[in-house]
Amino acid sequence: MMAKADDRLIVALDFHTMEDVRTLVAKLGGSVSYYKVGMELFYAVGGKAVTWLRREGKHVFLDLKLHDIPNTVAGGLCSLMHLGADMLNVHASGGLTMMKTAADRLHKEAAEAGIPCPKLIAITVLTSISSAEWQGVGQTRVLEESVLRLARLAKEAGLDGVVASPQEAEAIRAACGEDFLIVTPGVRPAGTSADDQSRIATPRAALMAGASHLVIGRPIRAADDPKAAAEAILKEMETVP
Ligand code: C5P
Repeated sequence: MMAKADDRLIVALDFHTMEDVRTLVAKLGGSVSYYKVGMELFYAVGGKAVTWLRREGKHVFLDLKLHDIPNTVAGGLCSLMHLGADMLNVHASGGLTMMKTAADRLHKEAAEAGIPCPKLIAITVLTSISSAEWQGVGQTRVLEESVLRLARLAKEAGLDGVVASPQEAEAIRAACGEDFLIVTPGVRPAGTSADDQSRIATPRAALMAGASHLVIGRPIRAADDPKAAAEAILKEMETVP
């Protein structure tokens, strides 16, 4: 039986043309309900990536990782909200005031416009940063401690959650509570290539560790049969309701 679409699965559309987007979305059909639009696609085609997906009835995580002064980030997020994105993000290292200003302005502007407010989540420390690179930028605190500190700061600022590696999910879940969103990339079904991800987990393990959403790109996009690959992942996810 076909596994039903699960909003916890977010498929990354790392393409630079709408043609590639339309082809993959058509192949995945009703199996996938949530997509991630990142820098590659947004910088190439702009807001139509979001408006097209919304018209197709899909949810959109617009992953543009804003990092600037509070007023600029808040204004930028409001512009992105009007495209119809369901989830937006900023860098937590932009600070408490930046995150708080962003969340407050987004809620206020959504209420004024009478539209649902998108979820706002924060990048703690990029999953591509190793301990050596962390020290290289002058950080003396242990990386994992910084991840937790930034996750708590995001919660204090009124954000809805964070992006984190599956390895960090359990500690963040314990520190930030049940309702906090934990969106994890670096997810690889058993037996598939790790590509350039280093801290990976299977879909089941990521959910068991406390992830609320899984962002998966290449294991689906680059599969010979993307729909079958997505279905297999959905089946595995069903075992963790
Ligand atoms: O192809 P793959 O499954 O590795 O795609 C993961 C997606 O999540 C990519 O779009 C990547 O840019 C994104 N991402 C990540 N690590 C982060 C944040 C986002 O891999 N810390």
